[in-house]
Amino acid sequence: MSSHNGHDNRFLAKMRGIMEQESSKRIVPNTRIILGITGGIAAYKAAELARLLIKQGVEVQVVMTEAACHFITPTTMQGLSGKPVYTDQWDASVPNSMAHINLSRAADAIVIAPASGDFIAKLAHGLADDLLSTLCLARACPLIIAPAMNREMWLNAATQRNIAQLRADGVQILGPDSGIQACGEEGMGRMLEAQQLAQDIMVFFQPGLLSGKKILVTAGPTYEAIDAVRGITNRSSGKMGYAITQAALEQGAEVVLVSGPTALVKPHGAQGVNVESAAQMLDAVKRHVAGCDIFIGVAAVADYRVAQPSAQKIKKSANTLTLELLPNPDILAYVASLPKPPYCVGFAAESENLADYAEQKRRAKKLPLLVGNLAQQAIGSDDNELVLFDDGGSHALPRADKLTLARQLMQHIAQRITGEQR
Ligand code: PMT
Repeated sequence: MSSHNGHDNRFLAKMRGIMEQESSKRIVPNTRIILGITGGIAAYKAAELARLLIKQGVEVQVVMTEAACHFITPTTMQGLSGKPVYTDQWDASVPNSMAHINLSRAADAIVIAPASGDFIAKLAHGLADDLLSTLCLARACPLIIAPAMNREMWLNAATQRNIAQLRADGVQILGPDSGIQACGEEGMGRMLEAQQLAQDIMVFFQPGLLSGKKILVTAGPTYEAIDAVRGITNRSSGKMGYAITQAALEQGAEVVLVSGPTALVKPHGAQGVNVESAAQMLDAVKRHVAGCDIFIGVAAVADYRVAQPSAQKIKKSANTLTLELLPNPDILAYVASLPKPPYCVGFAAESENLADYAEQKRRAKKLPLLVGNLAQQAIGSDDNELVLFDDGGSHALPRADKLTLARQLMQHIAQRITGEQR
């Protein structure tokens, strides 16, 4: 049996070949998707999703959980997909009684939409107690899920842990979206609209825009020691830099992620280098920058370090304590001034005068692209708003979750790079 990654690569290579030959068409011929539907009010959107995928030339095989059948009937899905719908692990009409193996082997991808909180928990723990969860566990193809649930269920620490686990396992997660929910509450947890899901799924089967590119990303805060137990740091969570790493991987890039201390799980497929201080971050960047096509400095690097950190814990006393601070080396400026620098993207978090300060930083560090954000709404949060500054002016990316913004940013960078190479 082929490995998951091996299958991914062969499949994507096959798709790229087909897409190159048929670049004028949007459809991906002969693509077979299992559309798994779990129990949630958003199940009705799965009907439209099936229709849109089929319109794109995708062969859709629907599998529903028992709970899903309470929200939408298999008859509707059979009518739309033109195929009998599987709902039962113990279906006597399957000659070898192995629908989970037969179905997953015949699929190029499994898409679960909607993916309920319960089903996400099952996936994260490798449970297999019905046909859909069993075929996910038995799969040898990519898995894409579209979460849908009440906002409190989505924000629950258990769900967030399960989602982080699935990301680390290489599962593609589309959405959820924010807005009014079926229960009347408002917040994150709505399933993406069928149109958007269909688009995202088709993008998944397109050749990666950054395929063959090597990208070096810095993320998170740095920690500058004062003594054995204390230090100077900042509120950067690493979320923006990790989202950019994820988006670059999705576009086929090879990514090295140099990260300061964060609580995040490194995106599956990235090479991770963990550091603490700005000096360690600079060392790691120096070690990995050779042969790099793009450098993206998302890290909130401390501007100063303590001149003489104490090896022992400093004892409390009644006296004033003065710390001498030395300026840290500028990692981004170092990379941008290399004789043959990669395409350098800087970030600037400002609390005021964003456009002026960001443009000043871009010019001072001689960067082709600088991404500005407002410090108070960017640092530590799940959502952000970006403004891209380059020689052509500025371009705003409106408020969205950090992965959505990261995907838009990577598309922008890919276009710029292709443009410059022409
Ligand atoms: O991690 P999150 O919680 O998701 O928050 C994301 C973020 C707000 C930290 C991120 O979006 C961001 O804006 N990062 C840059 C923070 C900043 O303001 O950096 P700066 O102005 O100090 O530096 C400008 C650029 O130079 C940055 O690309 C930075 O990585 C780089 N730099 C700065 C100092 C230094 N010594 N070395 C550097 O490489």
